[in-house]
Amino acid sequence: MDARRQVLPREIMRFNRHQRYQHFLLMVSVLMLIITGFPIKYAQWPWAQVVVTLFGSFKTMFMMHLTFGVLMLISGVYHVIWLIDLAIKRNLPMSMVPAMKDVKDAIHHAKYLLGIVKEPPQYGRYTYLEKFEYLAVFWGIIVMGGSGLMLWFPEIFGVLPRWVLQIVRIAHTNEAFVAMLAIVIGHFFAVHFNPHVFPTSKVWLTGNISREHMKAEHPLEYQEWLEKQQVDEGVELVEKEHHSKFAKSRALIIFELVVYVSVFVLLLITFVPLLFV
Ligand code: HEM
Repeated sequence: MDARRQVLPREIMRFNRHQRYQHFLLMVSVLMLIITGFPIKYAQWPWAQVVVTLFGSFKTMFMMHLTFGVLMLISGVYHVIWLIDLAIKRNLPMSMVPAMKDVKDAIHHAKYLLGIVKEPPQYGRYTYLEKFEYLAVFWGIIVMGGSGLMLWFPEIFGVLPRWVLQIVRIAHTNEAFVAMLAIVIGHFFAVHFNPHVFPTSKVWLTGNISREHMKAEHPLEYQEWLEKQQVDEGVELVEKEHHSKFAKSRALIIFELVVYVSVFVLLLITFVPLLFV
């Protein structure tokens, strides 16, 4: 018997225009803040001198730090205004709000990675890691923006005791380190270095996710989407497996394992001794 075939769109919108603009502003500003911030912290190191030379002078680099700091704050304000607008239109999505399922998914995922269970968790629109990252960015913008402004305008905050500004400086410099590690190790793995999406997920560029990618990584959302497509009964869906051409590249996997294990060892060597002083 001839099964009817229904061809569904290959790509589905995941990030709309506003989300892509916000992501772009945040990406440019935070990367530039990392590049212009760490040479301030490690000014005596030779690599920091090289970065300063690239900007022409320390003063110019510091001005760039402040400029991109303002850009980061603008991206945060843009995001909040966008959320308020969605709320007024009664269209505010709740898909990013953490729920009990995320705790269960995290435990399930740990068991999956340890080989205790065979199947990975079934995620909806956002995984527990994506929700965590989003909240961390929210928190990060408040801490880095707040502390940055206090350090920038100490005269305005001069009424505060001296030790407050000293703590603020420690918070700014330490949170900068955490933010850099979270972005370069965690976020970059999820959207660039994971062999399934290597060299990059295209969502931040085109806003679209392929059907296969959505089915593999957000199967519950995919099911909901499929139901909305009103696929007729008896219709055979034309489905492909989701595979980046690097998904099974041994060379890439070994290279990344070496890099990630080296970074992990370096972090242990740097931070574990601090626990004993
Ligand atoms: C992700 C965002 C940011 C990162 C990664 C970052 C990173 C850094 C780092 C590593 C330093 C050197 C701290 C030290 O000397 O120990 C620094 C200093 C500084 N940053 Fe940021 N920063 C960020 C956001 C901002 C923002 C939003 C502002 C202002 C609006 C700002 C203003 C400053 C100022 C004024 C200093 C000099 C602090 C001092 O007097 O020691 N930063 N930043």
